[in-house]
Amino acid sequence: MDLLADEQLERSAVVANCRMNRERSLTGSNGYDKEVGFDPLDLLKGRVDPGRPAAWLDLCCGTGRALIQAARTARSEGLDVEIVGVDLVGMFDRHDADPTSLRLVEASLSNWRPERPFDLITCVHGLHYVGDKLGLIARAASWLAEDGLFVASLDLQNLKIADGGSTVRRLATDLRRAGLEYDRKRRLVACRGRRDVDLPYRYVGADDRAGPNYTGQPAVDSYYADADGPRR
Ligand SMILES: C[S@@+](CC[C@H](N)C(=O)[O-])C[C@H]1O[C@@H](n2cnc3c(N)ncnc32)[C@H](O)[C@@H]1O
Repeated sequence: MDLLADEQLERSAVVANCRMNRERSLTGSNGYDKEVGFDPLDLLKGRVDPGRPAAWLDLCCGTGRALIQAARTARSEGLDVEIVGVDLVGMFDRHDADPTSLRLVEASLSNWRPERPFDLITCVHGLHYVGDKLGLIARAASWLAEDGLFVASLDLQNLKIADGGSTVRRLATDLRRAGLEYDRKRRLVACRGRRDVDLPYRYVGADDRAGPNYTGQPAVDSYYADADGPRR
């Protein structure tokens, strides 16, 4: 099978798909709270300390609408926050937030790295389009503050292990062994507290012909090999 490298994947019509939902709000029926099960701003409010802003990083932030709304509410309530959104496509909604409280960055998450730890890291329906999903999950876990929270939408069906077998169950077990949580019903992966995530897989490449996943949108399958050769 011909698998795609990151540069090819990022030019794929599946990743640059204009029909994908890039405009979720912070809350409501098309809101981040519905997807991750809590209002990110509520979590940040619990983390603000005098002299220490609460920090939220949103991976694959789309238009950044949810982040702009959070920054606006934080400003009106006098909350000290630092919010960073990263997306491959720099078509962000216009905003007038102070750049110390909100930064929307056009970059690929295959090579972008943050400069500080975060209390909250989210990735709402972004991993479906990323090549090395497990690599990004591991990096995000390492970018957390010591007691931070990472939560991301993840369909295990979009992860393939080259030697086949019952991939989904095996991956769920390996994620748990690495200290992550996986909620099968909500299809959410989470990490509580900064962690070095060591998963026994080596990324091989991506397939943009996977077809729709549970979201109904065409997604990207990510292929891995066992890091230490085939398991017995
Ligand atoms: C379905 S949209 C979700 C956007 C936003 N989280 C929301 O829920 O409104 C997926 C986003 O992932 C972004 N994306 C895909 N691959 C990426 C990559 N390698 N690096 C950064 N962003 C990426 C796309 O540009 C797109 O904006």
